Amino acid sequence: MTAASSSSFFTLLAFVISALIFFLFRKSKSKTLNLPPGPPGWPVVGNLFQFARSGKPFFQYVDDLRKEYGPIFTLKMGTRNMIILSDAMLCHEALIERGALFASRPRENPTRNIFSCNKFTVNAAVYGPVWRSLRRNLVQNMLSSTRLKEFRTVREMAMDKLIARLSAEAEANNGVVWVLKNARFAVFCILLAMCFGIEMDEETVEKMDQTMKAVLIVLDPRIDDYLPILRPFFSKQRNRALQVRKEQVDYIVQFIEKRRQMIRNTGSDKAAMSFSYLDTLFDLKVEGRKSGPSNPELVSLCSEFLNGGTDTTGTAIEWGIARLIDNPDVQSKLYEEIKSTVGDRKVEEQDVEKMTYLQAVVKELLRKHPPTFFVLTHAVTEPTTLAGYDIPTDVNLEIYSPAISEDPKLWSNPEKFDPDRFVSGKEDADITGVKGVKMMPFGVGRRICPGLGMATVHVHLMLARMVQEFEWKAYPPNSPLDFTGKLEFTVVMKNPLRAMIKQRA
Ligand code: HEM
Repeated sequence: MTAASSSSFFTLLAFVISALIFFLFRKSKSKTLNLPPGPPGWPVVGNLFQFARSGKPFFQYVDDLRKEYGPIFTLKMGTRNMIILSDAMLCHEALIERGALFASRPRENPTRNIFSCNKFTVNAAVYGPVWRSLRRNLVQNMLSSTRLKEFRTVREMAMDKLIARLSAEAEANNGVVWVLKNARFAVFCILLAMCFGIEMDEETVEKMDQTMKAVLIVLDPRIDDYLPILRPFFSKQRNRALQVRKEQVDYIVQFIEKRRQMIRNTGSDKAAMSFSYLDTLFDLKVEGRKSGPSNPELVSLCSEFLNGGTDTTGTAIEWGIARLIDNPDVQSKLYEEIKSTVGDRKVEEQDVEKMTYLQAVVKELLRKHPPTFFVLTHAVTEPTTLAGYDIPTDVNLEIYSPAISEDPKLWSNPEKFDPDRFVSGKEDADITGVKGVKMMPFGVGRRICPGLGMATVHVHLMLARMVQEFEWKAYPPNSPLDFTGKLEFTVVMKNPLRAMIKQRA
């Protein structure tokens, strides 16, 4: 290479490098996102420590911020950006009008990946073929109205057991009973029977419940989920999660294998039910896969079925009974409706459609006390905008639903528990959100809770039976109830409800 040619080579190189830097710079500038506003954060940690130092539960922290930053705002939680929506019109636009775009789920933290078997569950799967196959199976083969009817005797038995347990507990404790614990137990028994196709004795139900609770505890978010750089300091917690997963798989696989055997030798177990969720899963064809789910995958799918409906329904009943105690006139009106509809026989689930007041009580209950304040986290399938702001794919979209169901622009006296609002015809709400979003205890759009139908049967039936059998009063007598919520997996009553019950004449 001559001196002249080498100088022109280096000039060219300098030009190419400068052009590259210019274009890269331009590109990175054009990549600067216009995210919704939010509280200014600190470098690296964002708003993480501000939240921790506030001492508030997350829902309270969000509720306070939305008053300052409006219906769409950003929180930077370490490496995660969260965009929080709390407005009915925006939710309708995102989840209904542009539903497919907003129907995905974000990447999971490592612990969640262990328990969802790398997103092989309905709730965790990204919007795509795996999700479609799993959800279609759950909805069509388990939760359709025809399938639901097949499990009517299971529900009847669980309701009888619930009433017997409450009577026994009241007799042993001067008329005082725990509400959440008993309601949870009843619905858990129903879901277990539907899932595994066998009636379980109380000891097995308790063991299964402990296994599930241990999972929920290790799934609690940790700081290293938001700051992955800290992961090496959390190896003890990671090992604990792996151990809990192993215990969960070992325990539940026994029931899976038992059911496999029963199907192979039909009639071998007289107590076995003719149908179960597991039966639908054994040979499930999942788009893009050659074989059916593995045992660990079956464990994740069964756990989702049990977890999805237990605490949510139990929580609804706890708030429901608390509201009936606080509003004795509502309780009396409900009891009168039950008596006039069914006379002296037990309430059955087909009576519910004739009981308009019961339906109004349950709707008002789910408006005032959605069991989960945030629907499950959503993500977009491709970058888009909402309300003029950028929504990238790696953002967690959180929907804070009490802001909608208590929005004074949508409801008269939203703070008041008033089932009559739904009876008078003055107010109504489409719970699926299709005709407009006013409340969304089950989410809305493509990811709406597939258990909605079954859950509402459970809540109606359980409340009706509990009010038919007993009169409910405060404990200690005449004490005011505290309606403060506390975040566990769902938002439960801060002071778990104990109530006085008296058998109706
Ligand atoms: C009162 C009871 C219940 C409430 C309040 C409730 C609430 C919810 C909510 C808010 C979501 C998230 C929706 C979204 O991401 O936009 C959801 C999803 C889900 N629920 Fe429920 N749920 C209840 C009962 C049940 C039952 C009984 C089952 C099944 C046995 C169930 C299974 C699921 C599943 C699998 C998903 C994920 C759906 C998906 O991602 O496609 N839930 N539920």
